[in-house]
Amino acid sequence: MATLEPGIARHYDISGLEERILAALADTGVDVAHLRAGDLEAADEFHIGGVAATKELVDQMDLKPSAKLLDIGSGIGGPARFVANSAGAEVTGIDLTQSYVDIATSLSKRTGMAGKTRFVQGSALDMPFANDSFDAAVILHVGMNLPDKPKLMSETARVLKPGGIFAVYDVMRLKDGALSYPLPWASDETMSFVATPDDYRAAAAAAGFSVIAERRRGAFAVEFFATMRARMAAAQAEGRKPPPGVGLVMGENARTKIANLTAALEGGILAPVELILRLG
Ligand SMILES: C[S@@+](CC[C@H](N)C(=O)[O-])C[C@H]1O[C@@H](n2cnc3c(N)ncnc32)[C@H](O)[C@@H]1O
Repeated sequence: MATLEPGIARHYDISGLEERILAALADTGVDVAHLRAGDLEAADEFHIGGVAATKELVDQMDLKPSAKLLDIGSGIGGPARFVANSAGAEVTGIDLTQSYVDIATSLSKRTGMAGKTRFVQGSALDMPFANDSFDAAVILHVGMNLPDKPKLMSETARVLKPGGIFAVYDVMRLKDGALSYPLPWASDETMSFVATPDDYRAAAAAAGFSVIAERRRGAFAVEFFATMRARMAAAQAEGRKPPPGVGLVMGENARTKIANLTAALEGGILAPVELILRLG
């Protein structure tokens, strides 16, 4: 599985991404020399539903201020900064893609959040953390790249303290049906390991987690992309540049990736699913 990881990291690596994000924000009037974390939220949350989805997930975790939170597959750091700001957590992000770790670190510095968030390069399936390091963990839209869900769950259980909450928000398969590529997480089928809620629950149980809550968010996802399309169309009709959105971080073929994902969501084949798990 380690042989897959360099290709997956290359899929995510977009050249000049931080500069592109800053330029897109500057176009909408943001003072990028004095950035606040909230200024970034249209561009630094790389999952369906953006910051609203992060908030709805994290609200179910009952995090204590100063809790040590692990963000598995932390991307360019939007969810980590949001939870550090809103819940007062101390967040460690781990991500496979070195350029994302660098951008996450830089954006936290630019927004005065370097003391509350840190980002390290590594794999979710072999994490460089001691046993019992964290009070809680989140994973947002990363499991689709992980071929071994039992290993994800056992690694997370290892680094969590007993009783720790693990909040999952991944795109899962709800029924059979072909997928078209590229998708936001995979250039082709060799990088995609979308699994069913049953697969996740079985892997979680084997690692010692119990399921506290589960919620399927297919309708929310379809609505999210419909709203995005309407905003893009309005901007085009008025001769404005498209507003910053989740497509920025997906690079040149963002439109195709989003169209392929939207088709699978509208067909009920895929949906984002929340699973709130407790260790023990
Ligand atoms: C769709 S993005 C989500 C990023 C972030 N969780 C968010 O919601 O903004 C998927 C992320 O998973 C990371 N990733 C993929 N495979 C990984 C692995 N084996 N270990 C850690 N991170 C991984 C990618 O580098 C990418 O940053």
